[in-house]
Amino acid sequence: MTYPRIFITRIIPDKGLALVKENYPHLDIWPDEMPPSRDELLQRARGVDGLLCLLTERIDAELMDAAGSQLKVISSMSVGVDHIDVTAATARGIPIGNTPGVLTDATADMAFALLFAVARRVVEGEKYVRDGKWKTWHPQLLLGKDFVGATLGIVGFGRIGSAVAKRAQGFDLRVLFHDPSAKAAYGAQPVDLDTLLQESDFVSVHVPLTSETRHLVNAGFLVKMKSNAILVNTSRGGVVDQSALYDALRAQTIFAAALDVTDPEPLPMDSTLLELDNCLIVPHLGSASHHTRDMMSYLAAENLVAGLKGERLPNCVNPEVYSRPRKGIGAL
Ligand code: DGY
Repeated sequence: MTYPRIFITRIIPDKGLALVKENYPHLDIWPDEMPPSRDELLQRARGVDGLLCLLTERIDAELMDAAGSQLKVISSMSVGVDHIDVTAATARGIPIGNTPGVLTDATADMAFALLFAVARRVVEGEKYVRDGKWKTWHPQLLLGKDFVGATLGIVGFGRIGSAVAKRAQGFDLRVLFHDPSAKAAYGAQPVDLDTLLQESDFVSVHVPLTSETRHLVNAGFLVKMKSNAILVNTSRGGVVDQSALYDALRAQTIFAAALDVTDPEPLPMDSTLLELDNCLIVPHLGSASHHTRDMMSYLAAENLVAGLKGERLPNCVNPEVYSRPRKGIGAL
């Protein structure tokens, strides 16, 4: 009996791992907490039929070629696929799976958690207490921003952006959004980007990282924001020009920023952003809840198993591979 060869680039939650093992008990799993190095990845991918990766691995043409022409599926335990060269995979007829939907709520919650933390200066307050600076209640101590009556601008109104709008209703926020391809929902009003930036007290970014959105948040974007505005980014670090953001935060041309994602990740400890009190940074935790990560692993496993069986992936990023099927692809 021949089994397909599978490489999983990290230990994923049991929910997904069990599904893969139930179908294919023979697996190669990278056991470390840190991801495989590039060389290790190239080596372990050689000869595999299925690859289950995370957003920490660069899956490009070189990797696909190193794996070999038998590679039938690449499944990423992420909704974002900017770490994968989708064009190269499509050209090779390899379907790519991702995990949309299951992390929408967790990520929208994180956008709000970050917004609250920065607007109400939660982290600064906590540090103030631990540093032994809390001597009295003071009418002017660590004043932040009000929510009721404020305007929230959402850039990118897909699943996560609209889930943020849904939450905003409960806080009496006026909500604007900019996304030419999206329909209005949850009382959010569509506007052009300039109007959004000029009118919003809070700006939350929810676009995928592509060549068009790289450094979308640049000096020109930041200068249009209100001087007391807050920027929240839970999408991808590359969407923000971090050096322009540093300049804006340092000069206080905006009030603060909260970043769940940076470029690169992890953010180097000598990043100037870490010098700023008005910049809150957390380590890409948007989807980091037990249930969400279980479901992400399950969807990733479903995609992997379907691809290995020669079936259509339940969540496929490049469905065009099915209209020009690759020669020789078949169920194992
Ligand atoms: C994703 O799945 O792309 C998210 O960024 C993970 O949190």
